Amino acid sequence: MRSIVSGPRRVLAAVAAVLLLAVVAVGLVPTILVESRNPEPRPTEWGPLGAADVELLRAARRAGLWEGPAGEIAREVSRNPKIQALGMTLMVDHGQLDVAVRQSAAKLRVPLPDEPNESQQGWLAELRAAGSPEEFDQIFANRLRQAHGSVLVTIAQVRGGSRNAEVRDLASIANQAVLRHQNLLEKTGLVDFTTIAEPLAGTSFDTELRADARVFALVGLLVFAESALVVLLIAWLRRSRGKAAPPAVGSFAVNEMEGTRT
Ligand SMILES: [Fe+2]
Repeated sequence: MRSIVSGPRRVLAAVAAVLLLAVVAVGLVPTILVESRNPEPRPTEWGPLGAADVELLRAARRAGLWEGPAGEIAREVSRNPKIQALGMTLMVDHGQLDVAVRQSAAKLRVPLPDEPNESQQGWLAELRAAGSPEEFDQIFANRLRQAHGSVLVTIAQVRGGSRNAEVRDLASIANQAVLRHQNLLEKTGLVDFTTIAEPLAGTSFDTELRADARVFALVGLLVFAESALVVLLIAWLRRSRGKAAPPAVGSFAVNEMEGTRT
């Protein structure tokens, strides 16, 4: 049974369908990118609450859940007065920060973790397993310095871009505590800076732009390929028509005289 749309028309219809899909895809890409980066912020009395805001609250809570116990261990194990004093500072500061975090989380209706994450639990286990007070001091200073450097980046991003006033206030409080602890850790003289990750050149905004450029380059390539396909198809159709066209009068006459048909 012969299809209603056959031959070149079927191919043309397929190309048109693919082009339509490409146009739809181009329209959807920006939406998909935005949604994957930023789930829809939730409106609150203090402004929209985004995913990064929530993560900051949770990170600040988890920091207290492992730094408080780390400070307690330092006071018991270390023989270094600086480390012992720092241990006490961590316990006091994170106790106060934790109160602020829980108040903000309650206002914003954000559930908080009740225990340190897997990495933090591993660091606590590492501290408890130290073979000597001196080894403990080395681990304490370096693990904590690495952790503070990492959380400082998170705080700075949220403090710089959050649209939620409550979270911005909390980020300011957390920032003061983290900077204070970082400075005190470095003043112990035990931090090995070769173990600290070097900052990446370029901002996260640059990274997003590069991601956008890659996606749009792919879409552009797809559209270009389809356009080329259409051009080739048109050329093929023209050539097919040329072959199927009736012969010129003179040519037909010659063929008739020769007793052949074209
Ligand atoms: Fe801290």
